[in-house]
Amino acid sequence: MRESTTWLIAALITSGLALHPLGGRQVEGKGKGKGHGGGDGITCKCYPGDTCWPSNNEWAALNITVGGRLVRAIPPGAVCYDTFEGIPTRDDAKCAQVSSQWTNATWTADQPTIPMIPLWSNNTCPPLNPDSTCPNTCTIGFLSQYTILATSSFDISAGVNFARTKNLRLIIRNTGHCFMGRSTGYGALVINTHRLNSISFSPSCPSNLCDPSIPHAGGTVTVGSGVIFQDLYAQAWSRNLDVLGGECPTVGIAGGYFGGGGQGPLSGFYGVGSDHAVSFDIVLASGQQVTANRLQNPDLFYALKGGGMGTFGVVTSVTIKTYPVIPVVGMSFTISGSNSELFWEGIRIWYTNAPTYTSQDMYVWYALQEGGLLATFVAPNKTLSEFNTVINPLLSQLTAANVSFTTDIRPFSKFGDLYRDIWVTAFHSSGLGAYFGGRQISQTDIKQRGNDIVAAYRQMSNKYPGQVLFGGHLVNPGNRIKDPQGKLSAVHPIWRDTADIQIFLYIPPACMSPEQRTEAERRLTVELGDILRAVTPTSAVYSNEGDVNEPNWQEAFWGSVYPKVLAVKRKYDPNDVFWSKSSTGSEKWALQSDNLKLCKV
Ligand SMILES: Cc1cc2nc3c(=O)[nH]c(=O)nc-3n(C[C@H](O)[C@H](O)[C@H](O)COP(=O)(O)OP(=O)(O)OC[C@H]3O[C@@H](n4cnc5c(N)ncnc54)[C@H](O)[C@@H]3O)c2cc1C
Ligand SMILES: *[C@@H]1O[C@H](CO)[C@@H](O)[C@H](O)[C@H]1NC(C)=O
Ligand SMILES: *[C@@H]1O[C@H](CO)[C@@H](O)[C@H](O)[C@H]1NC(C)=O
Ligand SMILES: *[C@@H]1O[C@H](CO)[C@@H](O)[C@H](O)[C@H]1NC(C)=O
Ligand SMILES: *[C@@H]1O[C@H](CO)[C@@H](O)[C@H](O)[C@H]1NC(C)=O
Ligand SMILES: *[C@@H]1O[C@H](CO)[C@@H](O)[C@H](O)[C@H]1NC(C)=O
Repeated sequence: MRESTTWLIAALITSGLALHPLGGRQVEGKGKGKGHGGGDGITCKCYPGDTCWPSNNEWAALNITVGGRLVRAIPPGAVCYDTFEGIPTRDDAKCAQVSSQWTNATWTADQPTIPMIPLWSNNTCPPLNPDSTCPNTCTIGFLSQYTILATSSFDISAGVNFARTKNLRLIIRNTGHCFMGRSTGYGALVINTHRLNSISFSPSCPSNLCDPSIPHAGGTVTVGSGVIFQDLYAQAWSRNLDVLGGECPTVGIAGGYFGGGGQGPLSGFYGVGSDHAVSFDIVLASGQQVTANRLQNPDLFYALKGGGMGTFGVVTSVTIKTYPVIPVVGMSFTISGSNSELFWEGIRIWYTNAPTYTSQDMYVWYALQEGGLLATFVAPNKTLSEFNTVINPLLSQLTAANVSFTTDIRPFSKFGDLYRDIWVTAFHSSGLGAYFGGRQISQTDIKQRGNDIVAAYRQMSNKYPGQVLFGGHLVNPGNRIKDPQGKLSAVHPIWRDTADIQIFLYIPPACMSPEQRTEAERRLTVELGDILRAVTPTSAVYSNEGDVNEPNWQEAFWGSVYPKVLAVKRKYDPNDVFWSKSSTGSEKWALQSDNLKLCKV
């Protein structure tokens, strides 16, 4: 069973290392040259080589202000090359270390600047791969110029003030996990929040922050914005507490996850991740630090819960609800087979049964490609016999159809034990070489067009054989937590009527020319994306797990909520100190396709 995971991951990692040089997908912009247009005289952010770029003395002064925690962004792979920008960098022992850690997501999260998916850095400066047929080079690529390794909100304010007054591109980075490249950008100043790692539990909800109309038999935990789920989980589970987190151990809590809404294995029971935030501390574009909760800055509080990532300010900490643990039943499940008809019939049976699992509070993580399905079912607060009652019709249908499948069903006293014992860890690697798309598929679409959706997966898979993979999460965060007024979180209303938060990957060929790169992007967005859009007319896209080039992303990611969150962006950051690709309020600027500068459109 573990072996079957390797076929997908091996393809991805090999491709990640071999893909060279692989460009990031740039937003096509109509950026004007310097000196044209713009009421405030600004047309582009300032970049190295521009006269407006800060002097070395100014950078040195910033470094003193932030206690010496300003670092020049040098790609970690530079130790494998003789020089980086003329500086001698070669160190064979360090190169061996970087090579061994390149696919370690915890290590990648700890780095100042690099993205988890190397294509967002233009795949620049990979640790040398002797097997690669692609030429290896070490340049800055699409990486930022400087990073502040912030340890306090004071450091963050200093960075925001510097970027605002010097007109620099400013990027917030915690783990670099963004599938969509939002935490990476050429010539930027990065504020890295990963060192804000405090975790503090409270047995109750402090000073009336929890809405009394929402029942909650638990306490809260306040985490710094550098904390990742594996660290919070370890502390929560050791106290017999659950938090509503994601399945990935190395994703951060306070930044991208909450900015997009957040979903996880207990979402069918507890709802959208950001429903559980009760207070944020945040540094605004003005450099001022404020608190946002139901009593203070409630409009900002609302927008921070799913209304956009990297765009309202730098979150420094968040307080979220905790719950006493509940028992869960877990099932590892596979479908395999070399007979294509039979395999896809098995997938059809399993997939079109999704509303049965989701209406029973369940969550099903899966990875799928032609010939292989690997899934983990999570059933919160169910007994073994309750679980079997839900799942037996599926197993009988598969048996009747002669589909080849395996199951391993086990009860656990808490989700943490299930996660430790049966979770598939192979997909938590960094260094992956793929373009990501996705679709948040509604209950309506699966119920009315489930067979067509599975036929679409088969068609997508056949279109580029061996290069298309699928993953997803069969879960409905609106199963118990309905929020008809849209007050809990600023997520697309589809979140309360979801059957699958789905991802698809396209693995492009190695060593692409710029033209081939454009073609690869088009294949993902148009050739593959359109097949799925056509059969999911009432669905949307999860803003963290989709295509950064999604057409009409405002509608696809936020739907009817968008005008409300855009108004919050304009109020708190009227001059666009923060800018994040295909995130709330990014319309007025775009990356120029030639030199990657961020300019007004
Ligand atoms: C392997 C893997 C598994 C995943 N599993 C899940 C899952 O189970 N559930 C789920 O919901 N999502 C999941 N995701 C998606 C994940 O939520 C997003 O990628 C998220 O954006 C990562 O946030 P980050 O802060 O860790 O990453 P980063 O790449 O550091 O940041 C992502 C975005 O958040 C912004 N940001 C970061 N920190 C802050 C801050 N302090 N203040 C304001 N903005 C900030 C950045 O500017 C950027 O726009 C998964 C991703 C990966 C790679
Ligand atoms: C900032 O200061 C520290 C401590 O003096 C130094 O090690 C570091 O190199 C400086 N950063 C830059 C970018 O010069
Ligand atoms: C991955 O990186 C983390 C952080 O650097 C480290 O603690 C861990 O040992 C690494 N894992 C492996 C398998 O090397
Ligand atoms: C990105 O990679 C492409 C392909 O090799 C190359 O032409 C381009 O110069 C690179 N851009 C940057 C900014 O490194
Ligand atoms: C879990 O199920 C039991 C038995 O049905 C029920 O008494 C309990 O309230 C449920 N737990 C929660 C947190 O809903
Ligand atoms: C399943 O296989 C059996 C034995 O090979 C066969 O008799 C039966 O017709 C098959 N059923 C289906 C639905 O193909």
